[in-house]
Amino acid sequence: MKAKRIKEKVWWFGAVDWNRRLFDSLIPLPDGTGYNAYYIEGEAKNVLIDAVDPALLDYLIDHLNQVPKLDYLVCQHVEQDHAGGIPYVMERYPQAILLCSAKAKELLIDHLHISPERIRVVEDGEKVDLGGKSLQFVYTPWVHWPETMSTYLAEDKMVFTGDFLGSHMAQSDLYAGEDVAVVEAAKRYYAEIMMPFRSFVQKNLAKLGALDFDLICPSHGPVWDKPEIILNAYADWSSDRLDNLVVLPYISMHGSTEKMADYLTSALVQRGVQVEKFELSTTDIGKLAMSLIHAATIVIGAPTVHVGPHPNVFAITQLANMLRPKLKYAAIVGSYGWSTKVVEQLSALIPNLRVEVLDTVLCKGLPREATYTQLDALADKIKEKHRDIPKN
Ligand code: FEO
Repeated sequence: MKAKRIKEKVWWFGAVDWNRRLFDSLIPLPDGTGYNAYYIEGEAKNVLIDAVDPALLDYLIDHLNQVPKLDYLVCQHVEQDHAGGIPYVMERYPQAILLCSAKAKELLIDHLHISPERIRVVEDGEKVDLGGKSLQFVYTPWVHWPETMSTYLAEDKMVFTGDFLGSHMAQSDLYAGEDVAVVEAAKRYYAEIMMPFRSFVQKNLAKLGALDFDLICPSHGPVWDKPEIILNAYADWSSDRLDNLVVLPYISMHGSTEKMADYLTSALVQRGVQVEKFELSTTDIGKLAMSLIHAATIVIGAPTVHVGPHPNVFAITQLANMLRPKLKYAAIVGSYGWSTKVVEQLSALIPNLRVEVLDTVLCKGLPREATYTQLDALADKIKEKHRDIPKN
């Protein structure tokens, strides 16, 4: 797509990645994604904010054909989907200065081999005058790397936020408007990328809240022209709110663990507890991550392979640990053949989860009546633990 004018002398210079379906060889992208760069012309200086993923560099090159000379390139985040095009830009404009945070400088040298002589570190709150327009840099760390920062353009009431407040969403419209599909994509993105840094999200929201803006320009997905939509959503997602919800990821090899997962689901629902159940050989991990945003409890359905958990359960447990959801309770259920160490091995995978571990229900072979009685007791306990969670 061609460059798009956002305000007087401010353009979107990005690339829309309609076909990408996986990020970091891990995160599903059902809606594709986009890499937003922004170009601003002051009366004296001009600036490009971020580059794009190298795979779509041709789009940026096309945009830059209208820019004979560049004074500044701002790097808000060193991950390659935004910084991968920086070496090209720096080579194309040998006089350009790369502006970034102190931590970003080190990362740019290590990850992209940028010459330190071309880099100027900007401090938190520092302003750079472009003539008639000015940039103010706002350190917003850990959304989602330690070096991330935002850029405020006061004269046009715009804030450029890098990954923060973004969405993996390919679309032709520049603006999000009130499109619920974009909010859903942003929620998935929050769960997969921002959730581990919830306390930083809250601090950075407060920091940006002190600025006066009417457009939020992230590096992924559409521009938020109704900023309150994404700000309110982030405030909710990163809040301490818990839902009366059990997330139940499971897999089953011969049907026994599935019988247990089904029985427990039914028992919980009968007790007024909401359940989101995910079969791990087919599940979309983005959906699973979203379900963890407000869930109070996780119950892992783990069949034993030899003596340890099924490898898919290993992977999803490690992922849940990495995402650091605000879960309060956890339990393990599953079937084994002759002996098992699933509890010991899974427990070792979740040091980041500050959960109270509830009853484990394991059964040898097919579940019998005694197993179902134990599952009823577990459902009772979860209902009791969820008693004080307000209904939404
Ligand atoms: Fe969009 Fe953390 O890169």
